[in-house]
Amino acid sequence: MKTALITGGGQRIGAQIAKTLHAQNYNIIIHYRSSKQPAQVLAEQLNQIRGNSASIVQAELSAIGELETLANSIKTLDVLVNNASVFYPTPLQETSENDWHKIIDSNLMAPFFLSKLLSAKLAKNQGCIVNIADIHGQRPLKNYAIYNISKAGVLMMTQTLAKELAPDVRVCGVAPGSILWPENGAKLSEPQKNKMLGKIPLGKQGSEQDIADCVLFLSNSAYITGQIINVDGGRTLNQ
Ligand SMILES: NC(=O)c1ccc[n+]([C@@H]2O[C@H](COP(=O)([O-])OP(=O)(O)OC[C@H]3O[C@@H](n4cnc5c(N)ncnc54)[C@H](OP(=O)(O)O)[C@@H]3O)[C@@H](O)[C@H]2O)c1
Repeated sequence: MKTALITGGGQRIGAQIAKTLHAQNYNIIIHYRSSKQPAQVLAEQLNQIRGNSASIVQAELSAIGELETLANSIKTLDVLVNNASVFYPTPLQETSENDWHKIIDSNLMAPFFLSKLLSAKLAKNQGCIVNIADIHGQRPLKNYAIYNISKAGVLMMTQTLAKELAPDVRVCGVAPGSILWPENGAKLSEPQKNKMLGKIPLGKQGSEQDIADCVLFLSNSAYITGQIINVDGGRTLNQ
């Protein structure tokens, strides 16, 4: 029985990754920060399917101390999915140092140090890390500089850790295109959504399942490391 930790795994894309790996017999550790309720409901659903197969763990990932506590709480691990992330616009002239730390610490520092802290446990099981990046780590989204920089860092982190942790731990990435419309601070208007959809050769948004399927594929691909797969309906062809 293998074990996977999914950060930000209680809802949206993270929850679908959790369900998909669980359906392939993984035990699931669902990390959450503030969304305890959906994480708890998901864990109960998974435990009803298979007893004692899912648990939840809370942590603010931008705090090193909480990363250490999280990593220490995990006994055995086969797959680490670095999925948690913040996303909101940061136009250059309106951006503060606080925004820089909030986004870089959540999106880049946390996956880096979580990888460090869990690498020995992953190595013991010949495990793997799957980083959820973004196509905007390669081609920037206007007015989202810090987010773009954080995801560009995730792409390089994937490649550099793939070298450093080989041969015992594989490190791969998934770069989603448009999957779910953002909530809260980054909501888009209908014309903005239509403009974005018009640039996708496959003509529609992807689904959470499209991302989860790619995570599962990479988790099972014993001879792939250092690769990042764009799951974007061809969007990068038009950028
Ligand atoms: N949605 C898309 O279309 C899309 C497109 C491209 C890339 N992506 C990438 O795919 C991944 C999942 O996307 P999503 O839209 O499902 O994510 P999301 O809903 O925006 O965020 C997932 C979770 O991350 C957690 N989180 C954020 N900052 C945290 C911190 N400092 N400490 C602990 N947890 C933190 C939050 O947990 P709590 O709610 O518990 O606080 C949140 O629920 C992300 O890496 C995102 O960048 C998504």
